Amino acid sequence: MAVYIVLLGPPGAGKGTQAQLIAQKYGLMHVSSGDLFRENLKNETELGKLAQTFMQRGELVPDDVTIAMVRERLGRPDCQKGALLDGFPRTPTQAQALAQMLQEFNAAVSVVPYIAVPEEVLVERLSGRWTCRKNGHVFHEKYNPPTAVGVCDYDGSELYQRDDDLPATVKNRIKVYQEQTAPLIQYYRENGLLVEVDGTKPIDQVTNALLQAIEKAA
Ligand code: AP5
Repeated sequence: MAVYIVLLGPPGAGKGTQAQLIAQKYGLMHVSSGDLFRENLKNETELGKLAQTFMQRGELVPDDVTIAMVRERLGRPDCQKGALLDGFPRTPTQAQALAQMLQEFNAAVSVVPYIAVPEEVLVERLSGRWTCRKNGHVFHEKYNPPTAVGVCDYDGSELYQRDDDLPATVKNRIKVYQEQTAPLIQYYRENGLLVEVDGTKPIDQVTNALLQAIEKAA
C-alpha cells in the first residue's frame, strides 16, 4: 500500500531540509507545494504569476488552485508508491481535500510528523537560509553551511536567498501559519496521526527523531 507522510511545521522549522533526507531514505517522492509554485514562477506559467502575488506578501495561495496543483502532482506515476508532503495541507480545507483524493487512490495519510520550533528561532533560520536554484537543496550560513560559499554541495548550482525571507514577509508568514495552519496540529492529533518532534535540535538529531516516529507509526 502507498505511504503518504505529511510534514507539518511553521515556516523555517526544517520541513524542506528533513523532507529531502526522509524521502530519499524511503524512496518516496518529495512533493513540496512551495517548490511547485516556485517552479511555475520560474517557468512563467499563469499559475506561477498568480502564486507570486500571494507568496511575495507571505500569504497563502487560494485553496482551489493549490489543491488542483497537488492533486495533479500526486496523480503522476512517480507518486504511485506514495509521497512525502511538505507544505501541504496548510488549511483545514486542504486537509479534507487531501483525505478525499487519497481515498480515491485507495490510500490514506500514514503519519503526520510535526516539527515544533519556537518563533524566535524561525526568524534567524530563515534570514540565514540559502537555497539552490536547480533542485531546491537547502543550506544555512551558520547551522548547515555549504562547502563553498554560494555553491550547492549536491549539484553545483548557484545558491540564492528567497524573496519571501525578508524580515517583514517572514513575520507575516508566521502570523498566517498561526491563524490558518496551526489548527491542523489539533486536527491530526484527534485523528491519531500526529507525532511531535523537537525541531530545535541539530539537523541529524531531528532526522533520527523523525525516522523513529515514522517507523513506530508504520
Ligand atoms: P514554502 O516553500 O512551503 O515555505 P514554508 O512552509 O514557509 O517553509 P520554508 O520552506 O520556509 O521552511 P522549511 O520548514 O522548509 O525550513 P527549511 O528546511 O528550509 O511556502 C512558501 C509560500 O508558498 C507560502 O508562504 C505560500 O504563499 C505558498 N504556499 C506553499 N504551499 C502552500 C499551500 N499548501 N497553500 C497555500 N499556499 C502555499 O529550513 C530553514 C533554514 O533552517 C535552512 O537554512 C536550514 O538549513 C535551517 N535548518 C533546518 N533545520 C535546522 C536545525 N535543526 N537546526 C538549525 N538550522 C536548521
